[in-house]
Amino acid sequence: MGSMHVLHVVGARPNFMKAAPVLSALARRGLRQTLVHTGQHYDANMSDVFFQQLELPAPDLNLEVGSGSHALQTAQVMMRFEDVVLSRRPDLVLVYGDVNSTIAATLVCAKLMVPVGHVEAGLRSFDRTMPEEINRLLTDQIADLLFTPSADGDENLLREGVAPGKIHLVGNVMIDTLVRFLPKATQQSGNAPSEPFALVTLHRPSNVDEGGMLKRIVDTLVTISRDVAVLFPVHPRTRQRISAFGVRIPDDGRMQLLEPMPYLQFLGVQRRATAVITDSGGIQEETTYLGVPCLTVRENTERPVTTTVGTNILVGEDMQRLESEVKRILAGKGKQGQVPPLWDGHAAERIADVVRSWEHRK
Ligand code: UD1
Repeated sequence: MGSMHVLHVVGARPNFMKAAPVLSALARRGLRQTLVHTGQHYDANMSDVFFQQLELPAPDLNLEVGSGSHALQTAQVMMRFEDVVLSRRPDLVLVYGDVNSTIAATLVCAKLMVPVGHVEAGLRSFDRTMPEEINRLLTDQIADLLFTPSADGDENLLREGVAPGKIHLVGNVMIDTLVRFLPKATQQSGNAPSEPFALVTLHRPSNVDEGGMLKRIVDTLVTISRDVAVLFPVHPRTRQRISAFGVRIPDDGRMQLLEPMPYLQFLGVQRRATAVITDSGGIQEETTYLGVPCLTVRENTERPVTTTVGTNILVGEDMQRLESEVKRILAGKGKQGQVPPLWDGHAAERIADVVRSWEHRK
């Protein structure tokens, strides 16, 4: 009892807010834990500041894989993580989300026959051109414990032939972190402009890696900025593309390009935004919880409850639609929504309970 050793793997920005509450919940139960950072994200403002603000323990190990092609990045994680598993011998490895580090670590464990739990399992965009969709499908096929954030996840997994006994509907751990830090974040919303504003994030390859598409989106944001100020914290990938494609942004101050924001500042700004325009997965969920209208610049979403229950609308690549939906929001007719079931701040507690009973069943 209490001797079980759980090893967590995180690599990229959206993993950090998912792992934080699970580490806390398992710590409260006295389990031995190891935290491995693959180093997929390495900039201080993409990684370190999140560890500080989320009060995460410093990683026990950083594999320092850095950037590269998908094959290179995935392979580097696999090669370096294999040694870690062999030397640390965890009883269970927990992986998060859908990034390259997630599938790489899971595949290593499957081959070494070390059990894996996948937090945020079962999400599907049904779009295999998205690198994350491949990561989700493969991770869920070989993981042993599947923690789903919403019932659609369970349905997807069952349809793919996953044994029902592996699936645990626990709710959304990202919302655990939001609930915990919202009061603190609210104190930081001083960063937000006093006038109404739209908050923008973009980083999907499908939106930023093709010059024509990126230019169309940015031009539309410039048009929108005539009606409402635009705040745009820019992901490093997107910043590179904007400069490589020579995308021009007028410097009239209506659209502000900022560095990626720390967690608390971003949350503080998000809750005060009149509208959010994004292609992120996590932000579709956070806006739904906060009741802020969200316009998603994607043809599909692996988080359908944000559209059926929450405040999210998929505008796809239709830039006229993006413009008209912003107008609708500014006219006070934005989409209203509700908070999906089990997005209540206690998902990590439910994961910890499952891990505990799984330990006793072994
Ligand atoms: C990754 C995830 C994506 C997630 C996103 C959140 C995969 C396949 N993608 O995408 O699901 O939504 O993180 O941010 O795992 N870079 C830096 N500094 C960093 C990290 C990246 O400058 O700290 C630049 C590098 O030039 C790199 C590029 O961003 O080549 C892309 O980074 P990468 O980790 O490959 O994918 P993301 O686009 O960040």
